[in-house]
Amino acid sequence: MRKKKEAILKVKNLTKKFNLQDGRTLTAVDNVSFKLFPGECLGIVGESGCGKSTIAKILTQLETVTSGNIIYNGKDITNLKGEELRQNRKKFQMVFQDPVESFNPRMKIGDIVSEPLLNFNLMNKHEAKAETKKLLKMVGITEDFTKRYSHQLSGGQKQRVAIARAISLNPEIIICDEATSALDVSIQEQVIELLMNLQKERNLSYIFIGHDLAVVRNISHRIIVMYLGQIVEVIDSDKLVTDAIHPYTKALLDSVFSIKMGNNSEIEGIKGEPPSPLDIQAGCVFCSRCTKCMDKCLNEKPKLKEIGRNHSVACHLY
Ligand SMILES: Nc1ncnc2c1ncn2[C@@H]1O[C@H](COP(=O)(O)OP(=O)(O)O)[C@@H](O)[C@H]1O
Ligand SMILES: [Mg+2]
Repeated sequence: MRKKKEAILKVKNLTKKFNLQDGRTLTAVDNVSFKLFPGECLGIVGESGCGKSTIAKILTQLETVTSGNIIYNGKDITNLKGEELRQNRKKFQMVFQDPVESFNPRMKIGDIVSEPLLNFNLMNKHEAKAETKKLLKMVGITEDFTKRYSHQLSGGQKQRVAIARAISLNPEIIICDEATSALDVSIQEQVIELLMNLQKERNLSYIFIGHDLAVVRNISHRIIVMYLGQIVEVIDSDKLVTDAIHPYTKALLDSVFSIKMGNNSEIEGIKGEPPSPLDIQAGCVFCSRCTKCMDKCLNEKPKLKEIGRNHSVACHLY
């Protein structure tokens, strides 16, 4: 079964504002709420700058929240500190786009994977070495790689090592932030297949973040579509193409499928860039680029409404 009733993670009214040096305030995440269910892969998609990485960083407690709550297995973990925070970090792991940035270049692959095991005193050096071998094997990296450095690996191999490190602490939730975005298509597919297999074997829950709707749809059960820090639509992946109704989701779909079909005509829908998160207008966040914008959209922010099973949309048209 794909979903169980009780959510493993509940994000409630999450807002993140950054105070810039010039005194202005940037709203990166604006009143976002969602649930993640055990064994689910929840996709988050949207253009660059819409707040995806900020959500990932808040969930892995690399950033603090401005307001809102994070409930994990029924417990509010929003403002954990000290040892409680440290222990909680084990349960949330992250895989980034560029794992090299999070790898120490002077460390060998074997040490990169065994480091968290030793840091958390989960085993002695000898046990950690054996566990590292097991973990690397699980992600398709052979033993002779343990003595190499990260710069000696290909992009796909590095990402496999990052995944081995992420699963080493037996987490419940893995957040993949553009984890396959830098890889060639064929390697990207292999890494996604690995993630899917691990998910089944270890009953992991994923939040899979990306800017490419086709990739995010491939791996996710449900998709959150974000625009300028806000959720505009939530929909089951297998209904995305047929049932998505938000003008922004439809524009994203148009651009994916126009390319896929080799259509030479200009992509309809979204043109230009999203407005600045420094001056968010009163109305709908998407109104400046929406072909269906009405007066109401300029003045009143649409609420995210449930319009069907696992389907919510924030748009005055519905
Ligand atoms: N530490 C920070 N200080 C100021 N602004 C930030 C910071 N981190 C992110 N932002 C801004 O927040 C917005 C969302 O960024 P981000 O979450 O990285 O988006 P995405 O991952 O969707 O591309 C962007 O406008 C970005 O410039
Ligand atoms: Mg990002």
